[in-house]
Amino acid sequence: MLSRVKPLERILAEGTNQEHGLKRTLGPWALTAMGIGAIIGTGIFVLTGVASATRAGPSLTISFIVAGIVSALAALCYAEVSSKIPISGSAYTYTYATLGEFLAWVIGWDLVLEYALGAATVSIGWSGYFVNILSQFGVHVPVEWANGPTWGFAGQGTAGHANIPAAIIILIITALLARGTKESGTVNAVIVALKICVVLFFIAIGVGHIVPANYHLPPHPLPTGGGMDMGGFTPFGWSGMLGGAAFIFFAYIGFDAVSTTAEEAKNPGRDLPFGIISSLIICTILYIIVVLVLNGVVPYYTLNNAFPVAYAVNHMGLSWGPAASVIISLGAIAGLTTVLLVMMFGQSRIFYAMSRDGLIPPSFTRVHPTWRTPIYSTVFFGICISAIAAFTPINIVGSLTNMGTLFAFILVSIAVPILRRRHPELRGSFVLPGGPYIIPILSAVTAAGLIYYLRYGNPELWGFFPLVWFAFIVWLVVGLVFYYAYGRNKSTVALQQTEGLAIAQPPVN
Ligand code: ALA
Repeated sequence: MLSRVKPLERILAEGTNQEHGLKRTLGPWALTAMGIGAIIGTGIFVLTGVASATRAGPSLTISFIVAGIVSALAALCYAEVSSKIPISGSAYTYTYATLGEFLAWVIGWDLVLEYALGAATVSIGWSGYFVNILSQFGVHVPVEWANGPTWGFAGQGTAGHANIPAAIIILIITALLARGTKESGTVNAVIVALKICVVLFFIAIGVGHIVPANYHLPPHPLPTGGGMDMGGFTPFGWSGMLGGAAFIFFAYIGFDAVSTTAEEAKNPGRDLPFGIISSLIICTILYIIVVLVLNGVVPYYTLNNAFPVAYAVNHMGLSWGPAASVIISLGAIAGLTTVLLVMMFGQSRIFYAMSRDGLIPPSFTRVHPTWRTPIYSTVFFGICISAIAAFTPINIVGSLTNMGTLFAFILVSIAVPILRRRHPELRGSFVLPGGPYIIPILSAVTAAGLIYYLRYGNPELWGFFPLVWFAFIVWLVVGLVFYYAYGRNKSTVALQQTEGLAIAQPPVN
């Protein structure tokens, strides 16, 4: 089962064949900007609020350090693998070359959770800031049309009929991607700069309004979600802090998107590791400061709302507060839009790659005759993601995104030692310090730890089994059924292996 490996020479050749189509324009700092463009988003602008109020309180700063360490370990593994196999397709491609088709399928299927559900999560965050801005100008979107249903689960925020702004922004981005508005490097760089400026702006105006007592509040009378509030720096205990880490891990997702641009990087072997690691370092530093300021400015239990950063600004008592809140919301909206573009672009390209390998139907490789975009894949996912965004609570869809991404991290970590054994001749420009085992094992174990703590604050089925684990298992089972019913027989690698055998064994007569 594990022997159906896509030959590395073929993977590299496919990348080279496409070279005439994709220009190699991205240098190390452009890749870093892409990374930051994909990383800073709903995680810091929205989920920090929910996580502070229902999971970690002020100890969310430590949660960010924990999740940052887990991400950094995985980033190092991604950096080694992507410097050796500088081809688009991300973890799916690496796995196909190392662990074989079956696990490549599992990971490609799993990445739908990261990219498609990630996009749905970001669009719900986008909706929160958009609705906030409209309200500043006196336009009030009815609550029931700015929130999806909570499916009867407690602690999922405001219940409504459908999150219409989230569904609409996904459809707009789908239209842009279908038309092939290629994310221009300059536009991306401007938006990334804007996003960083907004974050720095918040820090600058917030630092002077920190009330140290907010880091050690007495127990809050109402349980605000996940567990009993005990007050202090860790109001929900250390497991709440770790539950917070598992939840806001979402804020770090995206650095691996840098690896999907391999075929457009000028010097992928050297610049991909640089882009991945530097974008992660910059974001981690910004995140920790933002969370310190956010929890210092307002009590954590007030932060369970759809636009916590703007909310904190509103509560600083500034004479120009409404203007500052609008600036932050506009920056957040622009910033979240680029995250959406990257995620939906990544999703359509991964299915494109899987379809090219024959594992999913060929319509996903269908390219529009004039726009030259994978139109079928783009529109299909646009409609699905839009429906999910409209009808799913952010807590559930965000947790499931984390689950899928952490699982991908585990598989990429395992790929590192296997790739070294199977292809000792590959010399990437980035080699993990400490040998092929220490960092990959630490990475896989810590990612598994976060998966465990995802149960904190999430709905449970039958009173004990986390919904997010259950949904993940169902998704994998559906994927396996599909693989055995379709991909296994249609795989181009399998067909080539069979042809190779037929050629190698001359006919009997
Ligand atoms: N890290 C990205 C975000 O927080 C996915 O929106």
